[in-house]
Amino acid sequence: MQGGRREWWRAGPGIGYTGAMIQTSSQQESIPDAPGSQTVVSVTGLTKRFGDRLVVDNISFAIQRGQCVGFLGPNGAGKTTCINMLLGLVEKSAGEIRIFDLEAPRFHREIKARIGVVPQADSLDPDLSVAENLRTYAGYFRIPRRLARGRVEELLLFFALHNRRDEIIEHLSGGQRRRLLLARALINEPELLILDEPTIGLDPQARHLIWERLAILQAQGTTMLLTSHYLDEVARLSQQVLILDHGHVVVQGEPRQLITDLVGLEVFEVDGTPAELDALEASFKQCNATLERVGDKLYVYAREDCSRLEKVLGTSGSWVRRPANLEDLFIQLTGRSLRET
Ligand SMILES: Nc1ncnc2c1ncn2[C@@H]1O[C@H](COP(=O)(O)OP(=O)(O)OP(=O)(O)O)[C@@H](O)[C@H]1O
Ligand SMILES: [Mg+2]
Repeated sequence: MQGGRREWWRAGPGIGYTGAMIQTSSQQESIPDAPGSQTVVSVTGLTKRFGDRLVVDNISFAIQRGQCVGFLGPNGAGKTTCINMLLGLVEKSAGEIRIFDLEAPRFHREIKARIGVVPQADSLDPDLSVAENLRTYAGYFRIPRRLARGRVEELLLFFALHNRRDEIIEHLSGGQRRRLLLARALINEPELLILDEPTIGLDPQARHLIWERLAILQAQGTTMLLTSHYLDEVARLSQQVLILDHGHVVVQGEPRQLITDLVGLEVFEVDGTPAELDALEASFKQCNATLERVGDKLYVYAREDCSRLEKVLGTSGSWVRRPANLEDLFIQLTGRSLRET
């Protein structure tokens, strides 16, 4: 099983399909959530090796009830592998995972019943219609039919899919599929949503609709673990972010605080010739700022109000001044070079 992946609802020792078949488990009765527990996910020393390649290296974090945690990192940083270990889809090499105060993957069935997942790769059933996909998924959780019908209708409306309810999956656009994956993840009214790139490959309209729906769920108190490369949206939604690189957590904390502490207040981006940028660098050294040259561009990460230097920049329009953001932090901590391995 080392390195292998299974469908979410099929993951589980012993049987092919599990869903939320927890009601009959005597184990379940003996392992209630810790009363009043606010920690929904607790991960300690999580490690994964594929052969001799270490892809997740001793990661620890916690998610509190109602919190959204943004799980960020360049391609190949280990985000999906971490998520798959949380879900019991990939075997961990070391470490401890507790979800709802239950040990994972030991109590994976009990845990799964309370989680909703949007996987990075589309896993809808292509032979079924939109509504059938939702109904079938509800079946995995043994949701009574009448209740399931009601939830399917609500979710189709919430994700603006009600007009496509009888369409087979093949006929849906990428955006409609992602919306359906999200709808499917909510069918069991999960306490914890795990979202691996929920808006991957979508146009701005489809993305906005999904982010808007996630914001509503967040406001309603759903706990979330979210990976995405749309950092503005992550910053808006998350109370905490973890930035991973090469399997390590390089930083974790409240996004605005991290940006202010590690990047600064605002950023000037200036285009110019090498001589012009040299002169500007000299001027900006009067301000408490970090400077970075990338090709014919100068980035000034200002830790204080550097307005007085605007006159040095002139009126040529070859510069912009903007608030520092999560992408600045991400680039500063993980570098600008593309990850090939
Ligand atoms: N089954 C596997 N066998 C071997 N190596 C794997 C396997 N699954 C993932 N990896 C490797 O683990 C590393 C982390 O992959 P992972 O999918 O977790 O990255 P990620 O952070 O989710 O990246 P992305 O942003 O591209 O989705 C990569 O180098 C990848 O090639
Ligand atoms: Mg991934």
